[in-house]
Amino acid sequence: MDLKVVKGMRDIVEDEMIRFQFLERKAREVFRLYGYEEIRTPLLEMTDLFKKGVGEDTDIIGKEMYLLKDRRDQSLALRPEGTASVVRSVINNNLLKKNKTVKYFYMGPMFRFERPQKGRYRQFHQIGIEFFGVPSADADLETLLMLNHYLTEIELFEISFELNSIGCLNENCRPAFKERLKSHLNEKKDRLCENCNRRINTNPLRVLDCKVKECIEATRDAPSIVEFLCGDCSRHFDELLRLLSGHKVKFNVNPRLVRGLDYYSKTVFEVYSNNLGAQNAVGGGGRFDYLFEVYGESPVPSIGFALGTDRLSMLLPQREPQGGGVFILGQDRELVSKLAADCRLAGIVSHYDPFLSSMKSQMRQANRHGVQKTLIVGEEEISQKQVAVKDMHNGEQENISMDLIIQYLNQALLKNTNQ
Ligand code: HAM
Repeated sequence: MDLKVVKGMRDIVEDEMIRFQFLERKAREVFRLYGYEEIRTPLLEMTDLFKKGVGEDTDIIGKEMYLLKDRRDQSLALRPEGTASVVRSVINNNLLKKNKTVKYFYMGPMFRFERPQKGRYRQFHQIGIEFFGVPSADADLETLLMLNHYLTEIELFEISFELNSIGCLNENCRPAFKERLKSHLNEKKDRLCENCNRRINTNPLRVLDCKVKECIEATRDAPSIVEFLCGDCSRHFDELLRLLSGHKVKFNVNPRLVRGLDYYSKTVFEVYSNNLGAQNAVGGGGRFDYLFEVYGESPVPSIGFALGTDRLSMLLPQREPQGGGVFILGQDRELVSKLAADCRLAGIVSHYDPFLSSMKSQMRQANRHGVQKTLIVGEEEISQKQVAVKDMHNGEQENISMDLIIQYLNQALLKNTNQ
C-alpha cells in the first residue's frame, strides 16, 4: 500500500508541533488582552460563500479552491481562508445582536491548491482575527497594534510592515482609479505577462501585485491609488497614519499593496519577513466594510488579519520540549504504576518505563524526558517504605517517606504550564 502523504500536505510533529503550540498559546494570551473570543467554523462550507465573498476573479477562487460534491450533489469547498466563514457565522448566529461590536479569533487549517514550495502548502494553517462594528480609524489602529504586539511577543523582529488604502466603491474613488489604471495598463499591454493581460479587464489592481519582473518594470510609473482616494477614504487613511505616528510601530506606506482577495476596502496591510525567501508574507489583512452587503445584509464595518502559522514557525528558533515533572524508576510494576497514578492525579507530569528495563536504561530515559526529579523505588527503598528522590539538575539525592512523597513533590517541583 502506498502511504504517501497527499502532495502539499504535511504532518506537524516533534519540534514543529512545539512551535505551533507556542504560537497558538501566545495568540490566545495576546488577543485576550484586546477582548477577543475564540470562534470555530467548519472546514467545509458551501462553495458560493467563498465565490461571492473572496471574488470570482481572484486566484484563490479561480484556481486554488478544493471543491467537492457531497452525496446530495451540493457543491462544497474546503475553506481557503477564514474571514468569509466568520462573517457567515456572525450572520447565522446573530452574534452582533447583543453588542454593537464583536471580536473573534480563530486558528486552524486552510486549503489552497497552489504549487507547493518552501513555506507554501496546500493545507496550511492560519491564526486570524476579525473585529466587527467600528467604522473609525481607531479600529484599524488597535488591530495593527495588536498585530505588532503579537509579533513582538513571539520575538519576531526582522520583519517589515506595509500599509495602503485601496479606497471604497464610491465612483470617484476606486472605480475611477481602476479606469485610469486600465488605460495605463493597456498602453503597456505588450510588456505584461499573459496573466496580467487577462487581469487588465477582470482585476486590474492585481497587476500591481504581480511578481513577474517585466510586469514590475512596466508598471513602475503606474498611477497611485493614494492620489485617487475620495474625501472619506483619504481622511480615514490620514487619520490612521496620524494615530500610528503616536506609537512605536513602524509601517511603510506602499501604494502598490493591493492584496489578493476582493473583499477589502480602505486600509490594507501585510507583514513580510526578511528571512523567508520567495514566500515572505507572514500575514496580511485589512478592512472589509462591504462583505456583509455582499451576503445581502446591512453593512457592518469590519477589519481583520490572518498570519500563516507554518511560516511563523519556520522563523522561530528550534525549541526543546519543556520537560519537567518526574520519572519513576524501579522494578516493581505495581508500585511504579501506582506511584505514577498518584502523581498524575496530583497534577504532576509523570513518566515510567512500561518495560521496566535495566536501572541504567531507565535513568537514560529519565534524562531524555528532561524531568526535574527521578523517583527511585528500588528494593532497599521499598523495604524502608521510602522513595529516593534525585534532582536531575544538581544530582543531589534525598530519601522521602512514601506517605509524604506527593506532598513533598507538590512543594519541590517548579510548576509551569507545560511541566
Ligand atoms: P491571505 O493573505 O490570503 O489573507 O493569507 C494570510 C496568510 O496566510 C499569508 O500572509 C501567509 O502567511 C499564509 N498563507 C496563505 N497561503 C498559504 C499557503 N499556501 N501556504 C502557507 N501559508 C499560506 C487571508 O486569508 C485573509 N482571510 C486575512 C484576513 C482576515 N483579512 C481580513 N481578515
